[in-house]
Amino acid sequence: MTETRVPILFLGLGSVGGALLRQVLDTRAVLARRTGLQLSPIGLADVSGLLFDPDGLSAETLQAALEATQNGRLLNSLPGVRSLACVDGALQAGPILLDLTASTETRPVLQAALEAGCSVALANKIPLAGPWDQAKPFFEHPRLRYEVTVGAGLPVIAGLRYLLDTGDRVTAIEGCLSGTLGYLCSQLESGVAYSAAVTQAGSLGYTEPDPREDLSGRDVARKALILARTAGWPLEMADLTVESLYPASLASVSAQDFVGAMSALDEPYAGRIREAQANGRVLRYVARVNPEGGSVGLAAVPKESSLAALRGPANHVAFHTARYDEVPLVISGPGAGPEVTAAGVLGDVINLALRYHLPQATDRAEERS
Ligand SMILES: NC(=O)c1ccc[n+]([C@@H]2O[C@H](COP(=O)([O-])OP(=O)(O)OC[C@H]3O[C@@H](n4cnc5c(N)ncnc54)[C@H](OP(=O)(O)O)[C@@H]3O)[C@@H](O)[C@H]2O)c1
Repeated sequence: MTETRVPILFLGLGSVGGALLRQVLDTRAVLARRTGLQLSPIGLADVSGLLFDPDGLSAETLQAALEATQNGRLLNSLPGVRSLACVDGALQAGPILLDLTASTETRPVLQAALEAGCSVALANKIPLAGPWDQAKPFFEHPRLRYEVTVGAGLPVIAGLRYLLDTGDRVTAIEGCLSGTLGYLCSQLESGVAYSAAVTQAGSLGYTEPDPREDLSGRDVARKALILARTAGWPLEMADLTVESLYPASLASVSAQDFVGAMSALDEPYAGRIREAQANGRVLRYVARVNPEGGSVGLAAVPKESSLAALRGPANHVAFHTARYDEVPLVISGPGAGPEVTAAGVLGDVINLALRYHLPQATDRAEERS
């Protein structure tokens, strides 16, 4: 089979970016044999700068970049790093651009990439969860994919697209979309105090360094918004009610003071667990959306329900549709982790490359447009 070289450019070389680069290197031969695609990393960027070679970065440079970032060093500790501003120029090489950051700053470069004819794959939810007039072009663009933004490696967006493409009418979507908050609920249910459960989640690497990033519910709300917008409901963040798992009085204290104050929340949350248990229910952090709006927060669900059966950081998404009216279509499984997330992005990259980068695929796409 003739091989087609497909340039890829990484924005972000953290846990997902690093795992993806290793997967690209480790699966090169398999991918070439199965699909004829030869993925070629031409650029790697972090906040400090860009390593770039339009002909493909050498194996030595890629290894050095992986080693540096795994050891907590920035890319500008390596020779040959250019300014981040050079990313715009690198788009002329026609790469698939990967946003593997959690940055609020990437929207302009994503737009520039699409305008330059590049394809884009996102792990970053933020560009998709801003005001609808800014996010709409991303949802509507055929050369942009974002599978891992909800459910990590689980085919949640693909499942939803399948329902829509086959003419089903989605009426509501609900689920547990946060591994971190799923873990927290399981721990609270088994009698662990709120403060101890949050500390444990931090030491297992489930939370951000400041646990309020997860406890605020903002990340789950972004995922709920992405599901709603994919379903064709152009909701805004203000259309969702979001329950934070800490009081507003602790929102602006330092991260250290927050950790010190957490034990005051032990009894209130233990009380909510007891109340739910007395009614034959368990607490889960549930996202619900429909065409009019939605909610994200703690819900007391029946003990025998599939949400109650979730343990630890598992994710669960249920699509209620015209066809799946009595029992919803459910996608469930591990919904976080750099390896499964990276594999999900790799799936998006392969999908885009097969569709837009193979010579005959380009001809077909041009014929269609
Ligand atoms: N981990 C998961 O299980 C998972 C699952 C689904 C989705 N995601 C999403 O995937 C994304 C990456 O997650 P992660 O865990 O890999 O995060 P991470 O370890 O914090 O890595 C983020 C990377 O982005 C870089 N970066 C930040 N701003 C940048 C900019 N403006 N330009 C270029 N690079 C920039 C950072 O550089 P520095 O190191 O120099 O700051 C770092 O290399 C996030 O949006 C996350 O929500 C993660």
